Amino acid sequence: MLLGVNIDHVATLRNARGGFEPDPITAALICEKNGATSITTHLREDRRHIKDEDVKNVKKSIKINLNLEMAVTDEMQKIALEVKPHSVCLVPEKRQEVTTEGGLDVKSQLEKITNFVKPLINAGIEVSLFIDPNEEQVKASAQTGAQFIELHTGQYSLAYGTKDEEIEFDKLNQSAKLAQSLGLKVNAGHGLNYENVHRMHEIKDLYELNIGHSIISHSIFKGLDNAVIEMRDLIR
Ligand code: PXP
Repeated sequence: MLLGVNIDHVATLRNARGGFEPDPITAALICEKNGATSITTHLREDRRHIKDEDVKNVKKSIKINLNLEMAVTDEMQKIALEVKPHSVCLVPEKRQEVTTEGGLDVKSQLEKITNFVKPLINAGIEVSLFIDPNEEQVKASAQTGAQFIELHTGQYSLAYGTKDEEIEFDKLNQSAKLAQSLGLKVNAGHGLNYENVHRMHEIKDLYELNIGHSIISHSIFKGLDNAVIEMRDLIR
């Protein structure tokens, strides 16, 4: 399994004072040096953490892949086509949410998402759909032309260590199997941390995990290099 590190929180901290530190580019380079295979930045509509310039500068600075998380809007599609990240991950976005709350409802927006994905793929950008682990969303995703899904591990992470863990884990496992049988590659992320990440090994052929909050939090005490190395070693 590969490790994508989400560096949004570095920008959140920088923006708290409106200055230049901590610098997301420096963070991206440390992640790259210590085993991350991609850097994720979520350019939100309200630009609350990552800004447009950050996305461009990260793209210019790193050798590993840039994964641009974004909503299904014309504005974001235009930016993606300009910046040409290695991949985009389409997420639902609500203004008031603290973080991405649920998966994209691909089933009820099948035509819109299929049309949205097309120019991105034609431009050579890999497309991933961030979805809840359920059969209907997986089947709909397979019809859009996107090459990847990212399974939302938020419910599994919340349930970890409780009586519901098995139920939530099983949804991920079954969804991954179904997606792979339909030709999709499968990533996973949200809420994964140093304790709960080990069960991702039980899901066959997961491609990449995208992890932000726990790595950036751990880095405050251990340093970003060590935080990335520890997570990398857990998922390899
Ligand atoms: N994947 C997606 C699609 C996300 O929206 C997020 C949060 O920005 C993550 C992964 C990373 O989640 P976390 O910060 O909880 O590790």
